[in-house]
Order: sequence, then C-alpha cells, then structure tokens
Amino acid sequence: MVSKQDASKQSGNVVTVQPYDKLSAPFKSEAPCLQQRESPYRAEGRLLAESEITRPCSAPRSKDRIGIEEVVRIEDITKTYSAGEVDVPVLKGVSLIIRRGELVALMGASGSGKSTLMNILGCLDRPSSGRYWFEGQDISTLSVDERADLRSKKLGFIFQSFNLLPRTSALENVQVPLECAREVRPDDELRERARAMLKRVGLEDRMNHHPGQLSGGQQQRVAIARALVNQPVLLLADEPTGNLDSRTSAEILRLFQELNAEGLTIVLVTHDPEVAGHARRIIRIRDGRIEGSALESPKAVVESALG
Ligand SMILES: Nc1ncnc2c1ncn2[C@@H]1O[C@H](COP(=O)(O)OP(=O)(O)OP(=O)(O)O)[C@@H](O)[C@H]1O
Ligand SMILES: [Mg+2]
Repeated sequence: MVSKQDASKQSGNVVTVQPYDKLSAPFKSEAPCLQQRESPYRAEGRLLAESEITRPCSAPRSKDRIGIEEVVRIEDITKTYSAGEVDVPVLKGVSLIIRRGELVALMGASGSGKSTLMNILGCLDRPSSGRYWFEGQDISTLSVDERADLRSKKLGFIFQSFNLLPRTSALENVQVPLECAREVRPDDELRERARAMLKRVGLEDRMNHHPGQLSGGQQQRVAIARALVNQPVLLLADEPTGNLDSRTSAEILRLFQELNAEGLTIVLVTHDPEVAGHARRIIRIRDGRIEGSALESPKAVVESALG
C-alpha cells in the first residue's frame, strides 16, 4: 500500500499518485491524467435517446446538441498507395465517428486496411482524399509541425511489438514523449510524471529494468504508460495483445477497460473476437470499407456508458 505521504506532487501541473493496494488491485490506482473527465453520455443526468446522439454526417461540430463530444470524425476517407507503377487502393471511402469515452474495437481480415486507418487517425499518415476532424478541428488545415504537436499532445499509440527503446530503462522509455513535447519542464518533474504513469500500470517495482529484462505483458504496460504520459485524448492500440498469451492479454484488456472507465477514449485493433468482446462497439472493415455504419453509437453503447 502506498501511503498518502508517498503521494507525489508537482508544482504547476499537479501530478498526484493516489494510494493504491498493489496486491488486491494492481491497476486500480487512479490515473492522475484521466480521472477528471466526465462520461460523455451523462449529459443532463439522464439516458440519452439514440436520436439525440446521432446526426447527419455533413455538418462537423465538436459537440452534439446535447453536449456529447466527437473526438474523431472522418468522412469518405480514401488511401491509395503507389507500389511501383501500380496504385493500390486500400481505404475506399471510410466514414466514422468516435465519441469521447468510447472503447471501440476495429476488426477485419489481414490486409483489410486497419493499420492504414489507424495511421490516418493517429495523424501518422495523410489520406489520399476525404476529411478528418479531431475534436472538431479540421486536420487537413494543419501544417506538418502542427500535426506533430497534435500527435505528441493528444494522441497515444500502442503497437503489437511494443516498440520500446531496447537499451533504455522503463522509466526513460516513458519519459521520451515528455521530452519530445514542446513544453520545457524540469527533469525531476518529467521523471515524476513518468514514475506516476508506471505506477498506474502496476510497474513501480520495474522502473529501472530494460525491456529485455521484462516480460511481454510488462513491456506492453511500459508502452501503455508511455502512450498515456502526455495525457492524450485518444489512445490508438494496433493489435496490442497480438504478441501476448491469453492470461497476459486479459490483464492488458482489463487495464484498457479501467482506463476507459476513467474516461479515456480508446480504439483497439484486433483479430480476436474475444478481445473485441471487451469493447463497447465493434467497427468492422472489409476490403477498405466499413461494414454497416460507424457514424452512430448504438443505443446499447449509450446505455452501457450510462451504467
Ligand atoms: N506503405 C505501403 N505501400 C504499399 N502498400 C501498402 C503500404 N502499407 C500497407 N499497404 C497495403 O495496404 C493493405 C492494407 O494494409 P494494412 O497494414 O492497413 O492492413 P491490416 O488490416 O492492418 O492487416 P493486418 O491485420 O495484417 O495487420 C495491404 O494490402 C498492404 O499490403
Ligand atoms: Mg495491421
């Protein structure tokens, strides 16, 4: 049990590590960066009718009329790669909305375009055509630097292969995005935030271990801490449990569910229906197209978010 006295604080941007019981609830401490957010579906303290949270796809706004915020809105996105002289159309007109507080699974066969779509959602790549609004802001109007800024401040990424720096401690790995963010902060403040995040994912006793000294599940938790340390609005996870055994996968999914319950919006790519079963909504992509509509949150999603 970490005592209240151990709780660490920083001046300015306050980071408070809540006391938590490591033995009974390894992931149960409160994420300092996430606990403030409200459920997007709690507007006016009542259950929202489906008609209140959906609207035509042609008038982008960052909020619905009852106040549910759209984190992501893409309309008619296409992506065509050039392979030598041949054009390879991969995304063929994808439209979707992700609302604040959602946990969405993106499923589809290998080669259907899931990672391509995630790269576009994460502003790692640009679409060939179509529009993308992030929190109501038109991404196509941003310069390269502004997109990099958006990526580092508002988006977190997790990949199947963890992508940690090999000869660097867990703590230093988590500090990397903080150092990359434009705001200059004292070193001890960065370290404290990285420590707080590693505690949040249950790795307070592995901070100085290098990736090679950690299990797959622990490495993925370091990657999650790294993705969350800048307090992103949206977490994008591309097959985050693809390299993990089923028990470790379940632990990671439990962590995602807890983070989502605290308000984090998550999009999770998976092939595994069991993994997708942990999501509140499943979007299926087939051959570069979304199956059905991904513009609406089904009523069940709203009810589930309301608890
Ligand atoms: N940079 C690239 N240049 C050319 N073709 C590409 C490029 N990146 C991806 N592709 C092609 O786009 C298609 C979709 O790839 P993508 O990685 O999005 O699929 P995926 O659904 O994530 O598959 P998987 O489940 O295997 O990860 C594939 O046919 C792939 O070969
Ligand atoms: Mg992929």
